[in-house]
Amino acid sequence: MTDIDWDVLRTAAVEAMERAYAPYSRFKVGAAALVTDGRIVSGCNVENASYGVTLCAECGLVSDLHMSGGGSLVAFVCVDGEGRTLMPCGRCRQLLYEHAIPGMLLETVSGIRTIDDVLPDAFGPRDLAPERTTEMT
Ligand code: THU
Repeated sequence: MTDIDWDVLRTAAVEAMERAYAPYSRFKVGAAALVTDGRIVSGCNVENASYGVTLCAECGLVSDLHMSGGGSLVAFVCVDGEGRTLMPCGRCRQLLYEHAIPGMLLETVSGIRTIDDVLPDAFGPRDLAPERTTEMT
């Protein structure tokens, strides 16, 4: 897809970031993504006094994806509290992979990349398939 409006996605990510609940790290994060049907989903980080329970912004985004009608992620942006592009953490790259179209695009600190660039040789649903064969790799 060549008609991705990255400015619109970044604006949605900044709006989400402004709703972050990050009283412990004071590091607000917002994420936004374009879905296969054209809608935009977003999320912010939500921290917890039990620090390890913290939900990254991507968790809220994936919840928004399913709550608002499903589909798959086509293009993704994540920003910090200053609106600067932020790389999704390793756990969230895995989370995004499960809900992304093959080759989903991300705005990264090194330009537009694909999900396969940032999570090569990913583990995913097909690795759990009982009929898995070497041809699937
Ligand atoms: N954070 C995210 O929301 N997404 C990421 O991909 C990286 C980290 C949040 C979690 C925590 O609330 C704060 O950033 C500092 O780690």
